[in-house]
Amino acid sequence: MQVIDNIAELRSVRGALQGRIGLVPTMGYLHEGHLSLVRAARAENDAVIATIFINPTQFSAHEDLSTYPRDMPHDLAMLEAEGVNVVFTPTPEMMYPPRYQTYVSVEQVTQGREGATRPEHFRGVTTIVSKLFNLTQPDTAYFGQKDAQQVVVIRQMVRDLNFPLQIFVCPITREHDGLAMSSRNVYLNETERQAATALSRAWQAAGALYEQGTRDPDALRQAAETIIKAEPLAQLDYISLAHANTLEEATAPSNTPLLLSLAAQVGKPRLLDNCLLPLS
Ligand code: PAJ
Repeated sequence: MQVIDNIAELRSVRGALQGRIGLVPTMGYLHEGHLSLVRAARAENDAVIATIFINPTQFSAHEDLSTYPRDMPHDLAMLEAEGVNVVFTPTPEMMYPPRYQTYVSVEQVTQGREGATRPEHFRGVTTIVSKLFNLTQPDTAYFGQKDAQQVVVIRQMVRDLNFPLQIFVCPITREHDGLAMSSRNVYLNETERQAATALSRAWQAAGALYEQGTRDPDALRQAAETIIKAEPLAQLDYISLAHANTLEEATAPSNTPLLLSLAAQVGKPRLLDNCLLPLS
């Protein structure tokens, strides 16, 4: 496995790679969710490039950029064990040198949900992901359904800017009790860790109601909200029930696929979860 921390070398190594290339962008502190992306990429490509970069432009001033968990030696050992060919680990100065001034912004689908709480977030994500696409020129890039709005935003960007690649989305990897795996789960203490299961219990409640035939969007949102509100350690940020492709909030009963997504603060971290309705 080649670990590369500069752009010139990445370009030259990428130029020498043959066949289909899969890209797995990450911010590190890897867990089984990240590894599911790596395994999907490994299965479908001749070579896999993973990136580890805590992208400063997607954090706002009050967020956890400086304390975001990191463990590069462990991450590299995990990627090596999965048969990754190249890991790109640039510095912030390399990706955003002095006088850097170009950003990629996607309009409608970045509004609401994560975009409401974190106004600059998606501009940072689409900018760094564009740069990584340009640098690594993958055939397919792998993302997790865990960050459902991120997937919709990136798909929209790929369509709008004609990036010549496919997006592959992997399902959410969960702990045994349903908690979606996240690098930020490390912030949870034992009681908060218990409370954090409210997020998966919330979408499950809405999913069960949907399966029983309920289509009223407010009733479905309400079912999820009741679960979060019953958990004193969880502070609800939003619950959204939206059309899965456009992310327009559902206002009437619908049989088209819907995305139920929610965010809640549990102790220090803000946690996300979601499901598609019908449940898959
Ligand atoms: P990060 O949070 O490190 O996640 C990297 C990728 O792993 C994302 O596509 C994310 O959706 C996926 N992922 C995280 N937890 C998952 C889980 N439990 N199951 C399945 N997939 C999971 O998302 C980012 O980094 C950044 O925004 C990035 C795209 C790298 C741009 O900086």
